[in-house]
Amino acid sequence: MEPSDFFSAAEGRLDRWRTLHRIAKTLVGIAERDAEALRQEAQKLLADMGPIEDFCGYPGPRLMAQLHERLQTGDWTGFARLVQRISNGLVTNSYRDNTEAWKAEEETEVRSTDILPPSIGRGQNRKPYFEVLMVSPGERSMWPEIRDVFRRLRRVEDPFVYEPVIVGSFEDAVLATVFNYNLQAVVISDGFGFHSQYNVPTLREILLKQVQIGEGPRAATRDLGTRLAQMIRRWRPEMDVYLTTDRDVGALAGSDDAAPIRRVFYGAEEPMEIHLAILDGIKDRYETPYFDNLKNYASRPIGTFHALPIARGKSIFKSNWIRDMGEFYGVNLFLAESSATTGGLDSLLEPTGNIKVAQDKAARALGGDRSFFVTNGTSTSNKIVHQALLAPGDIVLIDRDCHKSHHYGLVLAGAQPLYIDAFPLPQYSMYGSLAIKPIKKALLQLKAEGKLDRAKLVVLTNCTFDGHVANVKKTMLECLAIKPDLCFLWDEAWFGFARFSPFLRRRTAMGAASAIREMMRDPEYRKRYEKFKSEMG
Ligand SMILES: Cc1ncc(COP(=O)(O)O)c(C=O)c1O
Repeated sequence: MEPSDFFSAAEGRLDRWRTLHRIAKTLVGIAERDAEALRQEAQKLLADMGPIEDFCGYPGPRLMAQLHERLQTGDWTGFARLVQRISNGLVTNSYRDNTEAWKAEEETEVRSTDILPPSIGRGQNRKPYFEVLMVSPGERSMWPEIRDVFRRLRRVEDPFVYEPVIVGSFEDAVLATVFNYNLQAVVISDGFGFHSQYNVPTLREILLKQVQIGEGPRAATRDLGTRLAQMIRRWRPEMDVYLTTDRDVGALAGSDDAAPIRRVFYGAEEPMEIHLAILDGIKDRYETPYFDNLKNYASRPIGTFHALPIARGKSIFKSNWIRDMGEFYGVNLFLAESSATTGGLDSLLEPTGNIKVAQDKAARALGGDRSFFVTNGTSTSNKIVHQALLAPGDIVLIDRDCHKSHHYGLVLAGAQPLYIDAFPLPQYSMYGSLAIKPIKKALLQLKAEGKLDRAKLVVLTNCTFDGHVANVKKTMLECLAIKPDLCFLWDEAWFGFARFSPFLRRRTAMGAASAIREMMRDPEYRKRYEKFKSEMG
């Protein structure tokens, strides 16, 4: 394993399966005396793949055991066929909705491979698939049984299907959370140990450097369950965390420790209860209130008086000339015409129904206190923010390379721009974002001129069109040290996805703001700050 595997773990995993496939194919046609070197290569590769594969639901221990067995017994044809089936399942994602992909292969069976992505063909019937991490204090020999119990609970009427992934320690649970993006829920059973079962230096480095577990959990002899829940919440806030414990559930439920936990189960809870809780948690996040309502609305016989020329597509589908347009876009686009004034869709300007619920869910997903939907993209959002925060005569420190919507916003608000240039990166023939120094220099200059009170806002682009990401936290902290009530508009039009990567999240405006808020609420930080202030004046 190379450290780079951490940043492209999914691609690295597929690459290894492809390499194994190449070796397996070569083994099939080779003379027995030449096979040993290749067999060893395959064995080493499989051993390297071991830890990551253990953190993933597919192919799972049964198919992996069959692979090892075929390699040991020299069944090259069977080995190659199974490697091909697994790597094909992983590349096309067909394992997510094709039960065939999971079955242990019969020796003589030859399967045709599925090269279409799962959403094509079987799309209508498919159940969304995810994986559930189960952190178990029990012996490893018990794991197949746990897996089987939860698999047997699957019912036709379940809206989703999941595969359990079992680990036995704190460190392995953290590593699985880092590497396996199919995981959507975790069931922690108190009583497990701390140390990983793998002695792989790269994994250790990831735990120490990237995840920064710290000394707390390592030193703890009990309560590792709630500590793990906190760690997972920090790294993967979207995951539902369940805890089964023998501790006093009443006391735990009311404490801060329980904040990241969706539900606490006492002792040996019925697996069915856990199964239903898992599905319920996913359902909660899978809901799409606005879209559901729109689909419902599109299927109702409603007259629209707002855009009569369109009339829910009638004028297009009956036209002698533009029927091809209707065929191109499809009937649903016109049936779901949302400019209707006859009700049923909630109000974008004053939402109280499905749009409000959707906004609240968006705020939760994006880690905000509130979220507001707007039409006309980031340009309109920028103009709204400028007009909400600024009054005529206010000064705005602004990235000279910002998107033009900011200029329109400034004109509308009557504010004055103070342009700051991005720094050049000549080796890449591009510009970076704004360095902190010139922003601070501009603020100090305003202070010297007695105009600092007029400086209301700093506008920065993160990330830039070329992909340059700013040090958001440091920028804000250093500017706030000069003017504590300064506002920041980080234009993240290119960076919305960053919230969903534990790495990039720290470099987003919301991620950095929440880190700063947490830091400032910490009494220790306040003490440090007071000391610094009394020393530095
Ligand atoms: C940094 C930045 N801000 C704002 C916008 C405007 O986005 P929209 O087209 O959604 O109005 C863009 C568009 O490219 C952009 O790159």
